[in-house]
Amino acid sequence: MSLYPGVALVTGAASGIGQATAISFAKEGCARIVIADVNLSGLRETEAQIEKEYIPAAADPSASCEVLAAVTDVSDPDSVQHLIDQAVEKFGRVDYVCNAAGTYTTPLSHKSSPGEKARRVPWR
Ligand SMILES: NC(=O)c1ccc[n+]([C@@H]2O[C@H](COP(=O)([O-])OP(=O)(O)OC[C@H]3O[C@@H](n4cnc5c(N)ncnc54)[C@H](O)[C@@H]3O)[C@@H](O)[C@H]2O)c1
Repeated sequence: MSLYPGVALVTGAASGIGQATAISFAKEGCARIVIADVNLSGLRETEAQIEKEYIPAAADPSASCEVLAAVTDVSDPDSVQHLIDQAVEKFGRVDYVCNAAGTYTTPLSHKSSPGEKARRVPWR
């Protein structure tokens, strides 16, 4: 039995912290993982790593991990809504979320609105 029997969703999953987190979910036996990023080629790399490193439960050693790779811009509410819609359509639910999308940028004031902060997350 995995520690993560539900559905994991990771943003920023094309590289760095998000990629490592998505792969860690697979290594812990999470069998349904949504990976999101603006970088499709990076998402494909992460998907390949998940397939390689997924460790199924002992009770079902031939099981594989289902991955949904969704190109998503987290600074765009419509894109985020589309991500959630795709995840729920494919898996019916989301249980664990890791928001790792982002990059280093200029400091924001504590007075900045959430929308302004989101718009400051640049893409590559
Ligand atoms: N690595 C560190 O030591 C460290 C320390 C403190 C904070 N952070 C913060 O954690 C976050 C992740 O760091 P990392 O080292 O994994 O960086 P990274 O650049 O390796 O990964 C960030 C990912 O986010 C994606 N991304 C960027 N903008 C996006 C957007 N608008 N929508 C969707 N995806 C987007 C990028 O394509 C990339 O794949 C960054 O915000 C960084 O500032 C990192």
